[in-house]
Amino acid sequence: MRRLLILGLACALTTPLAQARAIPDPTQRHAPGNEELQKPIAEAGYSVGVNYQLQCAGCHLGNGMGSAANDTPRMTGFVGNFLKVPGGREFLVRVPGMSQSALNNAQLADLLNWLMREDGMAGKSRPADYQPYSADEVAALRAKTMLNLPGTRAELISKMRSQGIAIEDGMSN
Ligand code: HEC
Repeated sequence: MRRLLILGLACALTTPLAQARAIPDPTQRHAPGNEELQKPIAEAGYSVGVNYQLQCAGCHLGNGMGSAANDTPRMTGFVGNFLKVPGGREFLVRVPGMSQSALNNAQLADLLNWLMREDGMAGKSRPADYQPYSADEVAALRAKTMLNLPGTRAELISKMRSQGIAIEDGMSN
């Protein structure tokens, strides 16, 4: 009986040592075909649409309709109106989803120009005299922090109202 107890105790003490292994396993190799480190998105060279899906659609949804329940405004058919009021052009680059995204300046400029397409999200809201964004413009604007985002946005919306623009941003203003 005593021997059995001693044997049991010895097993209980030694089993964890026998089973112990380092995690992660230092000898583990990448799965075949997956040997290279993933490229950061700013260097990956994806298309604009893929960048949108990866960096923006989580909040704005794939079709740009946003979600009032999550305080995310609708861009579809509306976002171009920001370019019709003073300060709106800067605002579109300085919102955190843009300025703090992992995309580089040229990718962000491409993305904005893509959003503003007449056959894209801006649609009819795009101003007739639309001037495309450049990477240099984006670089200068995204470096300027926006301290009062809700206040800035509310001001832009009220400037739109005074121009008679219908506020169809999906939010309950
Ligand atoms: C974490 C959620 C989130 C992500 C990710 C995000 N956004 Fe936003 N976006 C918002 C919210 C919320 C607003 C409203 C202003 C604010 O509170 O920032 C907004 C505002 C905007 C606006 C201004 C339009 C308006 O009506 O205020 C634009 C343009 C925009 N986002 C584009 C983008 C793009 C392009 C990306 C991807 C690079 C992106 N956003 C990523 C949540 C997000």
